[in-house]
Amino acid sequence: MPYDLCRFSYFSTPVGINFEQDIADIVAVASKRNLELGLTGVIAIENGRFHQILEGNFEDLQTVMNSIAFDKRHHSLLFGVVRKISRRSFGNWSMHLVNSKQMAQYQE
Ligand SMILES: Cc1cc2nc3c(=O)[nH]c(=O)nc-3n(C[C@H](O)[C@H](O)[C@H](O)COP(=O)(O)O)c2cc1C
Repeated sequence: MPYDLCRFSYFSTPVGINFEQDIADIVAVASKRNLELGLTGVIAIENGRFHQILEGNFEDLQTVMNSIAFDKRHHSLLFGVVRKISRRSFGNWSMHLVNSKQMAQYQE
């Protein structure tokens, strides 16, 4: 699994009322770090919750998820399964904010 291309998603509950600003900050930091690690993905706010999908090799996904899981800007993370994929869906978006309608297109 370590070098396989994988896809992973989760939902979480934002903390506080400034999550619109938080998501802008998150996308800025995430874009840079994900680019360095070769990860791609999207994030949306859906029904008041964060919903993020990340793609990349398993080890790098684990590294970033370790940071994300302990981030105080959200809680109650609900993880989906990690699954192998044959190709990426998000082109060169190292992290991109999308709306819930766009997000729906990426669900399998
Ligand atoms: C909802 C949410 C999504 C995030 N997504 C990413 C991400 O895709 N990539 C990333 O590097 N950091 C992401 N972060 C930020 C990380 O939690 C962390 O602040 C950042 O990676 C810096 O990591 P470090 O503090 O371990 O150096 C996200 C944070 C939140 C709350």
